[in-house]
Amino acid sequence: MAESMSGLKRTCRCAELSEANAGEEVTVMGWVQKQRNKGGIIFVDVRDRSGILQVIFEDGEIDAEGFAKAEKLRSEFVVAITGIVEKRSGAVNKNLATGAIEVRARSIRVLSESETPPFPIEADSKTKEELRLKYRYLDLRRPDLQQNLIMRSRICNIIRQFLIEEGFLEIETPMLTKSTPEGARDYLVPSRVHPGNFYALPQSPQLFKQLLMCSGYDRYFQIARCFRDEDLRADRQPEFTQVDMELSFVDEEDVMDVNERLLQKVFKEILDVDIALPIERMTWQEAMDRFGSDKPDLRFGMELKDVSDIVAGCGFGVFTSALENGGSVRGINAKGQGAMPRKKIDALVKFAKDFGAKGLAYIAIGEDGAFKSSFAKFMEESEMKKLAEAMEGQAGDLLLFAADQNKIVYDVLGNLRLEIARNLDLLDKNEYRFLWVTEFPEFEYSEEQGRYIAMHHPFTMPVEEDIPLLKTDPGKVRAKAYDIVLNGTELGGGSVRIHQNDVQETMFEALGFTKEQANEQFGFLLDAFKYGVPPHAGLAYGLDRLVMLLAKQDNIRNVIAFPKVKDASCLMTDAPNVVDGKQLEELCLDISSVEDRGDGAPSEMQE
Ligand code: AMO
Ligand code: AMP
Repeated sequence: MAESMSGLKRTCRCAELSEANAGEEVTVMGWVQKQRNKGGIIFVDVRDRSGILQVIFEDGEIDAEGFAKAEKLRSEFVVAITGIVEKRSGAVNKNLATGAIEVRARSIRVLSESETPPFPIEADSKTKEELRLKYRYLDLRRPDLQQNLIMRSRICNIIRQFLIEEGFLEIETPMLTKSTPEGARDYLVPSRVHPGNFYALPQSPQLFKQLLMCSGYDRYFQIARCFRDEDLRADRQPEFTQVDMELSFVDEEDVMDVNERLLQKVFKEILDVDIALPIERMTWQEAMDRFGSDKPDLRFGMELKDVSDIVAGCGFGVFTSALENGGSVRGINAKGQGAMPRKKIDALVKFAKDFGAKGLAYIAIGEDGAFKSSFAKFMEESEMKKLAEAMEGQAGDLLLFAADQNKIVYDVLGNLRLEIARNLDLLDKNEYRFLWVTEFPEFEYSEEQGRYIAMHHPFTMPVEEDIPLLKTDPGKVRAKAYDIVLNGTELGGGSVRIHQNDVQETMFEALGFTKEQANEQFGFLLDAFKYGVPPHAGLAYGLDRLVMLLAKQDNIRNVIAFPKVKDASCLMTDAPNVVDGKQLEELCLDISSVEDRGDGAPSEMQE
């Protein structure tokens, strides 16, 4: 039976009480974590979002009706309890923030009863995530998730305050907007009023924030929901949140400066970690050459080395043919791993193959300095020695080599480097290595589309001296684009934007757009630029990723209240779902070509 709370007022949250409150009468409200009946005395742990408080019901100290209610309490009942704070009579519970006190109950109301929940509500749950996601509202009661979401709220608050103090205005941009095919796949929303026409949900507020700069708002920010129909990973959700900003009359230094101070403040206030400024910078090329990644994890070394010159002309066909085909041979030195068992090396070879390698060549150097190598029979001993020397290989080291097109070599060794670091437990979650990666290539070539596509987006300003290359050698153009990277995760990215019409036109030409196509897609922005546009630049963080790292989580699901799983479905609501025939009719949508796959097809979990 659910009782009313009329006439009762909560005086505080459970874990806000301490010894300092001893003797006070308090009223707490929350969920029963557990009830232990010891005969004449009943212990009840009451939980709310602040934590857990022990309440004692003693026969005689509370009336018979109250005691009878306490006897019937079960996990997840919602209760209101009034009582007196006391120092614990028994031993202090060091695992509880309120472990030194207890509340002696004077009265109790059962505000709501609960069925037995499908899993226990407790920290470090062992319950399968699939079940917890189905009952996300229960999972969200668990202290781990509550702490993550509380931290998320605090982070947003700090960011808001900081940016407002720095002269930014918080402005919302539309959710129902126009599809712009550059970038990931859009989520589309059919229009009822314009049958056959679709809105797109924004992948980012990019164009609108640039328009706001044209309109003179100067410094904009928004904590904006973004939508991208792309494959999910541990750090990717189909809908996610950006802390998005744009500034006028600035260059990249100004954007970096304000963001460095923002990050410094967030890390200080949330983790009490001091970030030394300025944050280290590295060009994209250097990041690729040294770490095989545009988001290098700097918490450990194991850098890539280009040994193409050393192995040119050697007897190993795998190496020489990669060079002849315009590729390279590079290696990493897994220090002290020379005795790695064959089975583990084979696992690394398989790992490399998953990233497109045709193989992985290795030299294991014994403690006695002797070489064990997968390609010894193809190389002179002197050549091997030279190669090991170039890799600074010493007794006990394991040298791993990939030979292929650069893109594959970077990808393979960049990922292998991380895999080995994970295996060796080299990644310290309490170390924070920030890095700006700058001068990204303006374009990457899409084999699929047979043209260059913008690596960041088509409004990114090229490095001035490279502008002439837009017409002659687009592949070599460097962009005024920058990513902020933390411990191997891309936290955010941005760029200086093109604000000159002629540069923008050349840019569209390089991307293979005709004038008409550019106008059709981005006409409103190009038009706006005709009426006086300030130089501007900006950046957007993935808020979920930022919170994930601050909360030391491995998956952004853990910092999002209601996340989706790998096939982009929601296990709790069963979205996406079939809709009523009438709704489809109104929208003039005919889905008869869709095979009937049945409602509620099984959802796939991530990883
Ligand atoms: P970009 O596409 O690099 O830039 O996105 C900015 C940041 O958003 C985060 N992010 C994601 N987080 C979770 N799930 C996803 N699917 C996802 N996709 C991106 C990343 C990324 O660094 N408009 C530009 C920014 C600008 O130029 O100002 C933009 O959207 O952390
Ligand atoms: P094979 O001649 O195919 O037996 O290869 C000899 C060794 O070279 C094996 O250890 C392979 O894994 C390795 N290997 C093959 N292709 C490559 C490549 N593209 N890069 C690096 N090593 C390779």
